[in-house]
Amino acid sequence: MKKYLPTIPDFPAFAHGGDYNPDQWMDRYPEVLEEDIRLMDLAGCNTFSVGIFSWARYEPREGEFQFEWMRYILDRLHAAGKQVFLATPSGSKPAWMSSTYPEVCRMDARGRREHHQGRHNHCFTSPLYREKVAEMNRKLAKEFGAHPAVKLWHLSNEYNGECHCEQCHRAFREWLRVRYGSLEELNHAWWAHFWSHTFHEWQEIDPRDASIEGMRLDWLRFITSQTVDFMKHEIASLRAAGAEQPVFTNMMGVFPHLDYWRFAEVVDVIADDSYPAWRYEDEADRRTASRTAMIHDMHRSMKGGKPWLLMESCPDSPQWIQTPKPKRPEVYRTEMLQAVAHGSDSVLYFQWRKGRGGMEKFHGAVVDHVGSEHTRVFRQVAELGSTLSKLCDVIGTTVCPQVAILFDWEVRWALENSRGTGMIHYVESVVEAHRACWKRGVSTDILESTCPLDSYKLVVAPHLYLLKPGVVERLRRFVEQGGTLVLTSHTGVVTEHNLCHRGGFPGGGLRELCGVWAEEVDYLYEGASQKLSMNEGNSLGLIGNYETGRVCEVLHAEGAEVLAAVTSDYYAGHPVLTRNRVGNGSVYYLGTPPDEDFLGAFMAALMRECGIEPVLQTTLPEGVSAQVRTDGTTDFVFIQNFSKRPRKLVLDAREYRCVESDMQLSGLLELAPWQTRILRR
Ligand code: GLA
Ligand code: ZN
Repeated sequence: MKKYLPTIPDFPAFAHGGDYNPDQWMDRYPEVLEEDIRLMDLAGCNTFSVGIFSWARYEPREGEFQFEWMRYILDRLHAAGKQVFLATPSGSKPAWMSSTYPEVCRMDARGRREHHQGRHNHCFTSPLYREKVAEMNRKLAKEFGAHPAVKLWHLSNEYNGECHCEQCHRAFREWLRVRYGSLEELNHAWWAHFWSHTFHEWQEIDPRDASIEGMRLDWLRFITSQTVDFMKHEIASLRAAGAEQPVFTNMMGVFPHLDYWRFAEVVDVIADDSYPAWRYEDEADRRTASRTAMIHDMHRSMKGGKPWLLMESCPDSPQWIQTPKPKRPEVYRTEMLQAVAHGSDSVLYFQWRKGRGGMEKFHGAVVDHVGSEHTRVFRQVAELGSTLSKLCDVIGTTVCPQVAILFDWEVRWALENSRGTGMIHYVESVVEAHRACWKRGVSTDILESTCPLDSYKLVVAPHLYLLKPGVVERLRRFVEQGGTLVLTSHTGVVTEHNLCHRGGFPGGGLRELCGVWAEEVDYLYEGASQKLSMNEGNSLGLIGNYETGRVCEVLHAEGAEVLAAVTSDYYAGHPVLTRNRVGNGSVYYLGTPPDEDFLGAFMAALMRECGIEPVLQTTLPEGVSAQVRTDGTTDFVFIQNFSKRPRKLVLDAREYRCVESDMQLSGLLELAPWQTRILRR
């Protein structure tokens, strides 16, 4: 097991701090910078992202540049021992640019050019905007690339959105030309003879037609590709001017419209923004906790286990949630340490200080409008700062899970953009499969469908609806070599073009691999389900009766062992859970999205059979999670209670010490409501 180098070069401590906007204050309130530095020290905060939305100050009029103010801020932060992530300001352009060059503004789907407003609103294709961004980035790199405070580059901010200007549409057509070569290929891939959509000229292609499901999928791919291309352009301009620091951009969890795996290929460090909405109600919070855990696991998996950065989070409550209830101290602490438990080497907030005006003046921040350290939120941040300072040994540690769950944006897009599959909730099914591991304290990676699988014992791929080239071969190899694979309903339905496989589902070679044919799908009304029963003497030792979800495939076993069968309606007697032995491994096929009980029983049996080791050899109470990070010698075990009730568990026989108190621990471990305990073993 390897330990990674610190994410911030030569800084083997947790990055604690966040977005800092001193430029909002410096003209009228110059004393605020010094006051902030005093407060940063008190809060144990050491790392700040600056300049994210500063273009209008860097370049107030076209070609007139001002950088001295930023140099002053960097100098002061550096003198105070702070690390800086310097942003490229492309996330918000200055007003003069929109009025002089309207092409930098986006066009909506009705062909209306947006006026200057808000942020995150530039056209990703506009050569002019790209040139302006490159010029700005080169200047920033020249001015500050060698500044000792600058440790990483924060590329733009939460890249997102699409534009329907002629330049974007033309770029889409060019992208298609490279992908398909000819209109004939494209017409076939999109099944374009349907409704007389056959294209005879490239310029006839208009991405706004959602009735061509293949095109919709390609448009989404294009948005990611164009955004990544824009990001590469930003990186190249920094590098061209000599900036050498690693780069990252802040992602948004499982944001629907961008395939972040393509981002991961071009950034040096993975960074994510996380705003879980706690309800202070156990069942809802347990679900939120497990969903957040899944997203964190994905970000850790994106660079093969390398620690990532929690770039934005809220120390209190964001102003944009419906009920901005103050975040209770223990809830805050457990939320932040959850990211650490899942591989983050930072706790960073949006934002350091509340601004006096603008849409975010009531967004939770470390420093409130009262302006002092004497607030509950400030105290809780300072307390966490002191905890993090005791966790330096955790920096660079990771985990090597034996289980992987597949979550693939293209699968999601295909499912969500095909009429007739609306009852499949892809993200939720992935979260549920992950939860079955999470609640047992089993570490899990979240991978896209093309990732290598060799190091895992168990791979679960919910609704692998779209098959990218090479995926079936990889799955087959994984199973032949002894792996256990779980596939669920709506698998192998379409090719990468959203064209149905011929010859029966699951297609593309999976029918043979699974030993199963899914003839039809039964969709059930709300509240309805079919009954199912485990077959006596099945090889997993499952017993009992359960119910299906609201979707159930009518399966035929074609060589697979039937573990469970439906016992109601016209397809009573048909399998619902099967196992096919292939080579040294097994493929399970589950024809329904199971409820938590059924999935729980099935996953528990699989884990026993595969010899999957949980973090703790003990049963975890409801709402409690156990995660581990290790350097191969020392394990750091994070036990977290996401419930408002106290919980207890019995530690296994290994030697444990509390990281914070250094006390030895054994036997019964008590957890107060929302408490996190960090143990060393
Ligand atoms: C996003 C943005 C930040 C800020 C926060 C508020 O994550 O990146 O600039 O607007 O939301 O929650
Ligand atoms: Zn455009």
